[in-house]
Amino acid sequence: MKFVVCKDYDEMSQWAAEVVRKIVNEKPNAVLGLATGSTPVGMYHRLAELCKAGEIDFSEVKTFNLDEYYPIDPSNDQSYRYFMNQNLHNHINIKPENAHVPNGSAEDANAEGKRYDKMIEEAGGLDFQFLGSGVNGHIGFNEPDDALVAGTHLTALTENTIEVNSRFFEKKEDVPRHAITMGMAPILKARKILIMISGVNKVPILNALASGKITTQIPATMLQMHNDVTVVTDEATAALMTESF
Ligand code: GLP
Repeated sequence: MKFVVCKDYDEMSQWAAEVVRKIVNEKPNAVLGLATGSTPVGMYHRLAELCKAGEIDFSEVKTFNLDEYYPIDPSNDQSYRYFMNQNLHNHINIKPENAHVPNGSAEDANAEGKRYDKMIEEAGGLDFQFLGSGVNGHIGFNEPDDALVAGTHLTALTENTIEVNSRFFEKKEDVPRHAITMGMAPILKARKILIMISGVNKVPILNALASGKITTQIPATMLQMHNDVTVVTDEATAALMTESF
């Protein structure tokens, strides 16, 4: 794994946007895996700026988001579809039909997972996957467990995730208890992966990533099996690490 330490969040976001710009400039019909959460917001804003300036063209790009709450209507302002529209899709020249998010209102969530995996395959697989990590090491909504489901599937959120994500809702009771998430298999099939991790509460995850050990109890550690992963953090977070890459 490659380890990159940027000065601060702003520099991390610029750095990550530059990686995306290069990929899309080299392959205008690139297939990008995207994430939600607070981590990618700076990168999305930078990509919108680059697009406005004519330095990146999303007109042929396809995107697939990692996950979506379930059940949730895509028009709900807490849905990940809404988040992506607000933070990225409405500000770039992507064709709406090319911007995919699992359907949180699908009747059969596991069938939706299978359909989603098929769509990714038919698009030629992911050229790139952007990732954040939960404070518990979840990737997408692949939560720590004794065994993980390989493909895209319906999953229950852990108490920890419900607690952490409640900051985006009026009250904890409003946080959906389930989600459809890309499984670790389609994620690890992406040709290139960038994971951005910063903040004191995520230092244990960085240490686990650097430890050389793999466990489904910290799904992020599975990224060590991939041959093109870049871990990006900032100086303040890196300074707290006890393991080194
Ligand atoms: C969310 C998403 C993940 C995201 C993570 C971290 O629940 N399902 O894909 O990476 O939690 O969020 P944040 O970037 O806000 O810390």
